[in-house]
Amino acid sequence: MSGYVDRLQAQDWGVLLPVFGTVLAMTFFYASYRARKGQKDLRVNRRIQKDVPKVVTMMDIEDIGDKLTFCRCWKSKKFPYCDGSHNKHNTECNDNVGPLVFKRKDH
Ligand code: FES
Repeated sequence: MSGYVDRLQAQDWGVLLPVFGTVLAMTFFYASYRARKGQKDLRVNRRIQKDVPKVVTMMDIEDIGDKLTFCRCWKSKKFPYCDGSHNKHNTECNDNVGPLVFKRKDH
């Protein structure tokens, strides 16, 4: 094999190098495509306010009333409030997520 390489002329390398470069580039792009395709979607939030960089909910404590239940599973149709969707998620995924409940102390 090295005998063939030793006999290559400059014009031969001029033909071979673009071919090797193309094969190398295709291998790189295919490997990066496979890596991206194999990645799991690790997002927790799949549909709530996807147009903002960070979902933040501000609320005055005085407006909470006696009890307020906030979603922590990101599945609620009434986000940021819990609508019980975590029950379905827990059943389907064998998970144990639940809401954050603010409750005024009994006097
Ligand atoms: Fe998300 Fe209840 S719906 S915690």
